[in-house]
Amino acid sequence: MIDPFGRQVSYLRVSVTDRCDFRCVYCMAEDMSFLPKAELLSLEEMERLCTAFIRMGVTKLRLTGGEPLVRRNVMSLIEGLAQHLGDGLEELTLTTNGSQLAKHAQALAAVGVKRINVSLDTLDEEKFARVTRWGRLGPVLDGIAAAQAAGLAIKINMVALKGVNDDEFDSMLEWCGREGLDLCLIETMPMGEVTHREETHLRLADVRAELAERWTLRHSDYVTGGPARYVTVEETGQRLGFITPFSHNFCESCNRVRLTCTGTLYMCLGQEDAVDLRKPLRASMDDEALEAAIRRGIAAKPKGHDFDINRVAVPRHMSVTGG
Ligand code: 5AD
Ligand code: SF4
Repeated sequence: MIDPFGRQVSYLRVSVTDRCDFRCVYCMAEDMSFLPKAELLSLEEMERLCTAFIRMGVTKLRLTGGEPLVRRNVMSLIEGLAQHLGDGLEELTLTTNGSQLAKHAQALAAVGVKRINVSLDTLDEEKFARVTRWGRLGPVLDGIAAAQAAGLAIKINMVALKGVNDDEFDSMLEWCGREGLDLCLIETMPMGEVTHREETHLRLADVRAELAERWTLRHSDYVTGGPARYVTVEETGQRLGFITPFSHNFCESCNRVRLTCTGTLYMCLGQEDAVDLRKPLRASMDDEALEAAIRRGIAAKPKGHDFDINRVAVPRHMSVTGG
């Protein structure tokens, strides 16, 4: 699948649910309305959709949300998708808030998941409760420990927030170094209405310059097929990534499209362009119409996004299209 700008689309991110057991301040409003349950794809339908994408050239699948592990029976989907590993699919992974990870870590490793991303913005219990509104730090740390014990490689995703966790970059780097985890810092993106996003926005270019005064950051060619740019932290031996949708535009090399839990395919995180795949999926048991709709989507992939922190780029929250 090649888009009009010559980019090969080989990475599908699937939001298996837009629901979450947390309410992170930069991601969600306090009183969120979610997609109507009646419009949800079943797990079987999701598997069929993903299988079509794999047939058409997707080699990397990431399950996201919302929180993927709060979807009932999600492990059955993961097991089904894992059947494609080594047969078209090269990597199956997920992004999780870690709250349910202790329960699922062993099973994830057993079906062939090798690495996961865990969102963790702070190691301070009280701050964690404040940022996530509904979350508690303890179970997330237990989840990370369980994932390590199961042999999963872990990358921590930390959204950089001015006045909230900007005093914790050093301690997070140290902790990740001790635990053998990679770390990735993320700039807040203007997706959906939330409060105080502008005040907490931090430019990672500045953070990086400041970190470079205390840590030896070596350029790294490591690429995961995602938007992060990596350095290796010499003092810890771990990688440090930066996702900088403002200070650096990563659209030129974008290889991703995103599927929502209701079967809408978004071709860009920061744009409205979308095609509905649910209708062709349900219209017929053969995948001809579905594949045609997917091709239509790829042919309409926008060149890129253009974020401005003072303006909401798209009305949908990150939990709809997945981070
Ligand atoms: N901007 C940047 N990152 C966000 N995330 C959720 N909402 C936003 C936003 N508006 C992050 C989560 C998680 C990842 C999937 O995306 O913290 O780490
Ligand atoms: Fe849930 Fe992740 Fe959004 Fe937090 S950032 S509310 S954990 S989906």
